[in-house]
Amino acid sequence: MEKLYEGKAKIVYATEDPKEVLIFYKDDATAFNGLKKDTIKGKGRYNLAISKIFFDHLAQNGIKTHMVDVIDELTMRTKKTEIIKVEVVVRNIAAGSLCKRLGLPEGLELKKPILEFYYKDDALGDPLVNEYHIETLGVATKEELSEIATQALKINQLLQEFLKKRDLLLVDYKLEFGRFEGEILLSDEISPDTCRFWDKNTRKKLDKDRFRQDLGQITEAYEEVLKRLSY
Ligand code: TMP
Repeated sequence: MEKLYEGKAKIVYATEDPKEVLIFYKDDATAFNGLKKDTIKGKGRYNLAISKIFFDHLAQNGIKTHMVDVIDELTMRTKKTEIIKVEVVVRNIAAGSLCKRLGLPEGLELKKPILEFYYKDDALGDPLVNEYHIETLGVATKEELSEIATQALKINQLLQEFLKKRDLLLVDYKLEFGRFEGEILLSDEISPDTCRFWDKNTRKKLDKDRFRQDLGQITEAYEEVLKRLSY
């Protein structure tokens, strides 16, 4: 299979169908724009299984995603979208870069979700941008961005409800969208690599912050998220 692209956590391969690709989920993990690197045993398998559960749930609720099917425990077949170079972050509870930037205490419940856009460019370290930058620089049109924002907030409602039933708080998360045959599809992955999940009662971190902050029990946390989503 022809390798089309290798990222930090996934590899994209061509298929016999020019409109579809295979995405292989790696165990590799990076943080701080690639400065910290390691392998998290089992991560690829957990992230794929978790992403599949979320994509299925969202698709059942009217969100169009790039997922076609799952080939094996490390490989997802998806539509070959043209990725829009915007990382969309939605925050419900203050954590991570929001706390650093604005001096907020971690764990502060936000009165309303905060939506942020980052320009997807590793060389620039994915800088925070707004609608004006995105539109003026031609990264996405105003209409595309408006649809992306609507979808990101609808996804927030759906995922928060889904996770609450499983005693998980959706602190924040990052989404990516792609263009495909005139539509915008939710792309990339939704996993403990790209979300912050806390246990609702103990607020224990069950996501990649365990790797970023050297908290240990990383695989166990990913496994726990999958276990809770599976019932
Ligand atoms: P942040 O607080 O570091 O800005 O992260 C916000 C959310 O986005 C968090 O759930 C982790 C996720 N994220 C990614 O998926 N990829 C990234 O490169 C970064 C920086 C954050």
